Amino acid sequence: MKSLLQNKKILITAGPTREYLDPVRFISNESSGKMGYAIAEALHQFGADVYLVSGPVTISYSFPEEKIIHAKSAKQMYDACLPFFDTLDIAVFCAAVADYTPKTNYNQKIKKIENEIAIEFVKNIDIAFEFGKIKKQHQKSVGFALETNNVLDNTKAKLKKKNFDLIVSNSPNKDEGFGYDTNKICIIDQKLSLKSFQLKSKQEVAQDIVNAIIEMYNPVEIA
Ligand code: PMT
Repeated sequence: MKSLLQNKKILITAGPTREYLDPVRFISNESSGKMGYAIAEALHQFGADVYLVSGPVTISYSFPEEKIIHAKSAKQMYDACLPFFDTLDIAVFCAAVADYTPKTNYNQKIKKIENEIAIEFVKNIDIAFEFGKIKKQHQKSVGFALETNNVLDNTKAKLKKKNFDLIVSNSPNKDEGFGYDTNKICIIDQKLSLKSFQLKSKQEVAQDIVNAIIEMYNPVEIA
């Protein structure tokens, strides 16, 4: 029953992060935000109270601007999510957050030198892991995994490590994952049961994810 989502407070992360080396250069990835925004829009349509913490994206969207908190770096994304942790009902971590950030973010543009340069990286805080540590009994979390090898094992390990209730697995293949309008997913729950879906538009994939969320609350009755 979609009405189960009515007034549920839901936090979604979407898009990439940018980890700056200097004022004009950064390390990032190819996340477009399409998947996360499609989930946010689907949940919003069902009357949920949805907040979207978004990395820098250039897509067009119909999600209300006043419910978007824009963040660039992983640290900014974490700072934007933190105030929601105590009161949210459901968190969906769809963002492709950088695991590492340059140790130094120079104030001025790095000058070209004769020889090669080395960049030292430090670990970023893991937003989903931090939420997983303090999650209350009634709070649910949905994670994503984008793996290139040992897909199932790595995805299941992430589900456990980050204490997700559900994890959505997708791949960086053509027409799937980053950037495309379509995606092909598997959803794995805490009992490690797995449901595979066909290649679909990201809007349809978002509906499948919403149905899986509803099913967590009411396993027998899905509208
Ligand atoms: O934006 P699109 O172009 O539509 O592409 C969608 C997508 C491919 C980015 C999306 O479907 C997806 O798979 N997002 C997760 C990408 C990923 O690489 O996740 P991960 O395996 O690095 O991280 C696992 C989980 O922890 C994810 O839920 C992630 O959001 C979360 N995480 C990771 C690191 C970090 N520092 N903080 C986090 O919250």
